[in-house]
Amino acid sequence: MISAEEIKKDFLILKDNNIAYLDSGATSQKPKQVLEAVEKYYNTANANPYRGTYKLSESATQEYGRAREVVAKFINAKYSEEVIFTKNASEALNLIAYSYGLENIKKDDEIVISIMEHHSNLVPWQKVVKQNGAKLKYMYINKNYELDLEEIKSKITKNTKIVAITHVSNVLGTINPIKEIAKIAHQNGAIVVADCAQSVPHMKIDVQDIDADFVVFSGHKMLAPLGIGVLYGKKQLLENMVPFIMGGDMIEYVYEQETTFAELPHKFEAGTQNVGGAIGLASAIKYLENIGFDTIHKLEQEIVEYAKQELSKLEYVETYYTPNKENHCSVISFNIKGVHPHDLATILDSCNVAIRAGDHCAQPLIRYMNIPATCRATFYIYNTKQDVDKLVQGLQKAYNMFSKFIH
Ligand code: ALA
Repeated sequence: MISAEEIKKDFLILKDNNIAYLDSGATSQKPKQVLEAVEKYYNTANANPYRGTYKLSESATQEYGRAREVVAKFINAKYSEEVIFTKNASEALNLIAYSYGLENIKKDDEIVISIMEHHSNLVPWQKVVKQNGAKLKYMYINKNYELDLEEIKSKITKNTKIVAITHVSNVLGTINPIKEIAKIAHQNGAIVVADCAQSVPHMKIDVQDIDADFVVFSGHKMLAPLGIGVLYGKKQLLENMVPFIMGGDMIEYVYEQETTFAELPHKFEAGTQNVGGAIGLASAIKYLENIGFDTIHKLEQEIVEYAKQELSKLEYVETYYTPNKENHCSVISFNIKGVHPHDLATILDSCNVAIRAGDHCAQPLIRYMNIPATCRATFYIYNTKQDVDKLVQGLQKAYNMFSKFIH
């Protein structure tokens, strides 16, 4: 099995900076293979896709189409036109809220989300319910930072029209039972939106098996460049939806007062698209598939278990993750009681350890947990035990500095 040390060699930024990069939940680093694929596209095939009749434009069109096929196969979509390229998961969620939510949600309908949602899967739904006179209901976590089946079943009812749920929490690392939630939602006549931004980089996602109606994720958290994301939607739903952004190439005919729209996927891709990003994403998928998701799982389990073990030895560190190993993925949030997470992150930075501190765009969750914020270490395939050791040394240093002020 390939080791994290071997993988790390493909990431020049990690080698050159000697950094313990523990913020892949915010954005992952990019291997040289992905950067080369993007550079090759710009050096050999770049033009505006779909617009030109010349060979170079056709090559851009082909490369872009191929990238869509790669993504469709990766998530096991039935049709490649069910894959819409977006800027990121947030844009994809907004697309669903505007083009499906605002059009279909009626007065007194209910949208169910969980308390662990990222703002991107929360604020757009607030807009929908406010505008349409509907209700936003929350599923709350138990003491293990998980959603109980009873809680899920009690909140999803015949009044529910949309269930929007994160697959993996970006603060807790909890893996939600997305397939069961989809089943319960469908039994009640609701559709399911799965925010897979924190799961797709780490595990094999089969959209047909999950049976979610919409699935969104960002390329930049899974080794691809910034600025490319994916909306998967079931064809029939997408076909019946109004476009989100209007502009070039998403139309069929435009008259002075009326417009008819293009077929999928173009209806949802207005303006010149990020072809380089899509090619980077296809290359990132190839890179991950070459390693294999079984290996990725083993590598991540090993590093996360090691981190948990080492952090548990620091009696002054408080952690927030489920004890059920099989329901936890790649994220460890923690605090030193009495030390503000931002101060802790600054000290860790001075030790060349990069973590994120704050509310992680999940303020309702942080408020529910009754804590001011957290520090968060997120792990990926290139993280080694040495990275964890550096984190632990940094925490020890911070504790030594602050211990006389902590009561
Ligand atoms: N959503 C990203 C995170 O959790 C930015 O850090």
